[in-house]
Amino acid sequence: MTNWTDIGALEDIPERGARVVKTHIGCVAVFRTIDNEVFAIDDACPHKGGPLSEGIVHGRSVTCPLHNMVLRLDTGLAQGADTGAVNTYPIRVEGGRILLDTAKLRRAQVA
Ligand code: FES
Repeated sequence: MTNWTDIGALEDIPERGARVVKTHIGCVAVFRTIDNEVFAIDDACPHKGGPLSEGIVHGRSVTCPLHNMVLRLDTGLAQGADTGAVNTYPIRVEGGRILLDTAKLRRAQVA
């Protein structure tokens, strides 16, 4: 089951920027890359809960603003020597609108 929910316009998120969507499971960070791809992940770094939505987006990754852990936006996995992961959520763009599958918003076990 899916429940694609309109969470705003793509143009409302700057390139390499993010916005936070408040959901029933907590804050989800929605990122826009330089290539106009969008990704949705938890807005809490697996290290010490840093706000990933305030991190630096590069390619398909984000660097946490607190201690520089790098996480993939598409897989949620930490990169380099770091370990940990965040949940990722289904998201897509249609007609310039960002749609988040709110039916999939539940806490999953991450490695
Ligand atoms: S809280 Fe993100 S790297 Fe420490």
